[in-house]
Formats: sequence, structure tokens, C-alpha cells
Amino acid sequence: MRCIMGQPARVVGLGRDTATRQRITIFAASGGIGRQVLAQAVAAGHDVTAVVRNPKKLSGEVRVVTADLAAPDPVALASAVEGADAVLSALGPRSNSEAGIASRGTRAVVQAMQATGVRRIVVVSAAPISTVPSPGRPRPPKHDPGDGFFIRNLGVPLVKAVFRKHYADLALMEDILRDSGLDWTVVRPPRLTSRPLTGTYRTAYAQNLRRGLTISRADVAHLMLRVLEQPETIQQAIGIAY
Ligand SMILES: NC(=O)c1ccc[n+]([C@@H]2O[C@H](COP(=O)([O-])OP(=O)(O)OC[C@H]3O[C@@H](n4cnc5c(N)ncnc54)[C@H](OP(=O)(O)O)[C@@H]3O)[C@@H](O)[C@H]2O)c1
Repeated sequence: MRCIMGQPARVVGLGRDTATRQRITIFAASGGIGRQVLAQAVAAGHDVTAVVRNPKKLSGEVRVVTADLAAPDPVALASAVEGADAVLSALGPRSNSEAGIASRGTRAVVQAMQATGVRRIVVVSAAPISTVPSPGRPRPPKHDPGDGFFIRNLGVPLVKAVFRKHYADLALMEDILRDSGLDWTVVRPPRLTSRPLTGTYRTAYAQNLRRGLTISRADVAHLMLRVLEQPETIQQAIGIAY
């Protein structure tokens, strides 16, 4: 297993003294992970633009751009990303009726980045996606090397059956990033919790973490910000778990 940033990660925020101040655009900043990314980015002193479809969901002093990614407006998206050092997205469906939004919305974000010359993007996918076929990756590995016997034979088949459409959407989103020519990083968490930030978690390139069943939204956000300081994470999918 190739791990990044040591195991476990050191408990550090992206404090002003440890990280470069960056211009960051956050998509889905009103979601569970998105709110955590927003709060941590602001606390770290970054210059933040939050993109949401309903601005009433946000309070605070960041620049807000309104954009419904189900009907993307290229002009609004270009204005949201122009000049950014990095784009972070935790976009996903709130309900089954929104299935497909991760790939559709990410495609629009990628196009806006390409149009404005912005290169760095970090997005949230999901742990099972390493084994989900997609048009760009029709024959993925049958099993993720990080998954143990029970997860591999019981857990993964079950969640794949339940979340089939959602995982196909995330796999397509990953295709779009791989084909984008951008400096992308995909974070693949297992089950999300709303527990507090710890900054202490395991990570691995291109695979899941053995017996790593959960991770908090706050710690996923922590990793998404942290990889901005780590160019070696570009063009990598990263597993994360406790
Ligand atoms: N739940 C899990 O255990 C789990 C495990 C692994 C991976 N994941 C992945 O992680 C993702 C993020 O998790 P989360 O808990 O942060 O999700 P969440 O709270 O449901 O947030 C989803 C975000 O996407 C936004 N969104 C949805 N449709 C949109 C649209 N048409 N235009 C603009 N924004 C839109 C939502 O905006 P609104 O606030 O306006 O609704 C919200 O901000 C999930 O979607 C899933 O793909 C989840």
C-alpha cells in the first residue's frame, strides 16, 4: 500500500503559517462535506468563493455564486472559477431524482475551468468506485486490494446493488476528470459520518483502506484542502478512512 502524508496524518489544519493562501472555489458548499470544506478553508485564511444553487443556505462573508449544476450556465461557472488556484467539489444527489448530477455538474465545472485556464480540481467520489465499470474504464479490477474478505464479498456487492445509479454517475465523473487534462485528485471515502474533525486518518493511493469502514465529512474536507499542498496527489484517486 502506498500511503501519503504518513499514517496517521499529523493533526494539523491548513493554518496560515503552514499553508500558502490560495484562491479556492468550492462547489456544493452547502452540503455536508462542502460546509466543512468552506469552514476549514475560511479558517485557514484562504480566499474563498462558494458556489451553491440556493444562496439562502449560506451565511458568512465569502463570495457566493449561485449556480444550479443541473442546468449549468457557462458564464456563471466561468465567473465562479476564473482566477482560482483550485476548485473543490463535493457535489452529489440529494435524492434519487437527482441521479446523474455528479457527472453532469462536474463536466460543466471542468469546461468552465478549461475555458478560464484553471487547472487544479479535487472532488469527492466513493470507495467502491475503484471496481465500478465506466465507459472510460470498462474493465476495472474485480476487487479493490484494500478490501478484506467480507467487504469484498458481502459489503461491496450489497452497496453496489443499492447505489448502482449513483456509483455509475461517480464512475463517469472520474472518467471526465481523467480525460480533462486538468490537475485532478479524486477522494474516495467509505461511509460518511458527521463526527468532528480529527485530522487523523489513513490514506492510500488508488485503493481503499483495510478495515476502514468510515470517515467523517470533516476529515474528508481536511484531506481535500491538504492535497492542495501536495503536487504528488495530482492525477491520483485517494482512499481515506480511520
Ligand atoms: N453518504 C455517504 O456515506 C457517502 C459515502 C461515500 C461517498 N459519498 C459521496 O460524497 C458526496 C458528498 O457527501 P455529502 O454528505 O456532502 O452530500 P450532501 O450533503 O448530500 O451534499 C450534496 C451537495 O450537492 C449539491 N447539489 C446537488 N445537486 C445540485 C445541483 N443541481 N446544483 C448545485 N448543487 C447541487 C447540494 O446542494 P443543496 O445543498 O442545494 O442541496 C449539496 O451541497 C455524496 O454525494 C456521495 O457522492 C457519500
